[in-house]
Amino acid sequence: MTPPLPKAELHCHLEGTTSPSLVRRLARRNRIPLPENLLDDGDNFIWIDVESFLKTYDQASSVIRTAEDYRDLTYDYLASSAKEGALYVEVMSSPDHAAAAGIDYEGHLEGIVEGIESAERDHGIIGRIIVTCVRHFGPEQAMRVAEAVVHSPHPYVVGFGMGGNELLYTLREFAPAFSLIDTAGLPTTVHAGEWAGAESVADALDALPVSRIGHGVRAVEDPALVERLVREGIHLEVCLSSNIATRVYDDFASHPFNQLREAGLSLSLNSDDPPYFATSIGREYLIGSKFFGLDVEALKLITIEALKYSFANHQTKKELITRVV
Ligand code: HPA
Ligand code: ZN
Repeated sequence: MTPPLPKAELHCHLEGTTSPSLVRRLARRNRIPLPENLLDDGDNFIWIDVESFLKTYDQASSVIRTAEDYRDLTYDYLASSAKEGALYVEVMSSPDHAAAAGIDYEGHLEGIVEGIESAERDHGIIGRIIVTCVRHFGPEQAMRVAEAVVHSPHPYVVGFGMGGNELLYTLREFAPAFSLIDTAGLPTTVHAGEWAGAESVADALDALPVSRIGHGVRAVEDPALVERLVREGIHLEVCLSSNIATRVYDDFASHPFNQLREAGLSLSLNSDDPPYFATSIGREYLIGSKFFGLDVEALKLITIEALKYSFANHQTKKELITRVV
């Protein structure tokens, strides 16, 4: 059997990898009732729009209660990604979701680090962590997360980011948190241009020291902004299935992936929240091939772009890039 094409992922929410069956297992293990109105009869998460997605996501994440849960979640995700050919995955962790379930910063980190080490030992995959704050929890909470990152550094925590509801607060309000991280020497990324338009991507570039944008695809609405992204060497973490599931675009045919690629932007393919969007890193590459005409060489270049713009250290990047053959 030929080995799967080498892949790399930069945008996946760790708590968002919890499948319905894992939510059930963790609820049982932690002796807590399954949150109400979370799963339908077919065992799918129930949500219809962005607000209800974020609410369901918060509820599903609430069954993650221990460092061991974080370990298992991380291990399962990295192991399944390795089986699909992933060489490298940056998982986004959310200390706010961990804290809401009673786990402190160090506890959540300890679990994730154990999961990363076991997955590398068993499957050869390299995992790293982007600690994220949650936009709809506000700038003060974001600052507390940034402070935890700076006060408890770890070699596997390679960056800082922000997800959550793009329609609340302005990015400028989060500048102090991002600036603290920047001063400590860590790179950053932020969700923008997903549920909000091109102006949100411009805001991110103006207000925050980011080298990547989570999604960012709606930059396509402003050609001058696309040029700016190319000029400034900003990478977009594209999540195709996620964009269709949350109705940013009606279908793959309307998605601007190829337009952005042809404009010269650096792009990667990512799963975002795999069970919510019925996807995986392997499936995103398959979609790239089936719906966007990417051949094997083009997909390998996508992997190389992801590795180049990853937050891993120079040596790790170099070694990983030589494995993309
Ligand atoms: N977008 C924004 N915030 C998120 C997401 C997402 O897809 N998943 C978890 N937090
Ligand atoms: Zn995301």
